[in-house]
Amino acid sequence: MTIRVGIIGQGYVASTLALGLARIKEGEIGLNGIPLQDFTKSYSVNDIEIASSVDVDAAKIGSTLLDVVRTYFPAVNKVYEPLERVRVAPGLHLGSARNLPIKAVGLEEEYGLEDAVHKIVDHWEKSEVDVLINLITTEYTEPPKSFEQLREWVRSGEFKNLPATYAYVYAAAIYAETVKPVAYVNAIPATVARSTAIVKAFEERSSLVLGDDGASGATPLTSDILEYLAERSRVPRGVVQFNIGGNLDFLALLDERRSKAKEKTKSSVVSDVLGFEVPNFIKPTGFVEHLGDKKFVSMHIEYVGFNESVDEIIVNARINDSPALAGLLVDLVRLAKAALDRGLRGTIYEINAFYMKSPGPEGSRSISRIVAYQLLLDWLLRLGELTRVPRYSVHNFIPELKKLYGL
Ligand SMILES: NC(=O)c1ccc[n+]([C@@H]2O[C@H](COP(=O)([O-])OP(=O)(O)OC[C@H]3O[C@@H](n4cnc5c(N)ncnc54)[C@H](O)[C@@H]3O)[C@@H](O)[C@H]2O)c1
Repeated sequence: MTIRVGIIGQGYVASTLALGLARIKEGEIGLNGIPLQDFTKSYSVNDIEIASSVDVDAAKIGSTLLDVVRTYFPAVNKVYEPLERVRVAPGLHLGSARNLPIKAVGLEEEYGLEDAVHKIVDHWEKSEVDVLINLITTEYTEPPKSFEQLREWVRSGEFKNLPATYAYVYAAAIYAETVKPVAYVNAIPATVARSTAIVKAFEERSSLVLGDDGASGATPLTSDILEYLAERSRVPRGVVQFNIGGNLDFLALLDERRSKAKEKTKSSVVSDVLGFEVPNFIKPTGFVEHLGDKKFVSMHIEYVGFNESVDEIIVNARINDSPALAGLLVDLVRLAKAALDRGLRGTIYEINAFYMKSPGPEGSRSISRIVAYQLLLDWLLRLGELTRVPRYSVHNFIPELKKLYGL
């Protein structure tokens, strides 16, 4: 059985995902960077098919995925059949790409918002999508109080302040109502899985939302270092973490509201992991074009240890931004579909806590990834979704747990 994926925002991350999947299917590369590798029972990596893609960049609309992928990876000259089969369809703009160096167009300009939403639903129906991934430009969002309010925002046509993410959320809910249950994976810093109203709307439609904001780069590493210190009762005095990159997303983050959205999903990590506030500066801090997708990350943590000793941890890294998230998406798609198949609905903290910076549902704590990984494995074992237990699982070391799960 295949999982049919609908991409929303065919940018760097989505194109890296599409190319990586095609190369895995051709046997050219292995499963590096995909946390659950071949440990999942219901679906393998090869079962993932990109069935649809929507974007608002006039230069991408109508192009095949292969054409778009080549704009990011000019050295690709092989023809990958799954990438040739899909063409980028027009999306809903709602100003999400404003101030970016692209010519953005939206279906709502021609049809009005409500009809444009139905065009998107029709497109997804034709493509028979099971899982949608939101990968559009970073957006600042204030969530709706209820699904009815969201419906009103779409119907009134007064969409000046309606984020595109919510128009797609609404379209996904209509799809779930009229076509089949769906999973909406929100990989961007918009508030979706942390919105009680949205989670409830999906729950009522036997559907799922996962989010928010893929935890791919420096923030999960910071949370793990904080956990390491906390477990040893070493007390951080201050945390500084910044990212400078040269891709379009970093350019978009120069906008203050978009940057605020990112800051919101990043900085909760300190008090969530430690249980108390520490002065911190955790922000995307700059666009430098020549860095391209390989961002520069720097981190400084000063802490007090035994006998009032003061130590410092300094980390400098260059990290390829897009593959870091694309690898996580391979798991998210499979877990979302496996959960839908089992009738799970609403949102799933055990998935969000590991893969997302700000895990839903609303009010959830962001925990260190080391802890979240064990939580995820335990959840997968209870679900009967693991083909084998990864080496790092605590279940391998505790005889009672081994017995409990018949390992
Ligand atoms: N490691 C990572 O790269 C990482 C980690 C966490 C989250 N994210 C989030 O993932 C998203 C995508 O990142 P990226 O590097 O691929 O960005 P990108 O700028 O390369 O791609 C964004 C794409 O979305 C399109 N788009 C913008 N508004 C749209 C709309 N309303 N409808 C459809 N398409 C629209 C743009 O035209 C572009 O093709 C960003 O929001 C980013 O914050 C990325």
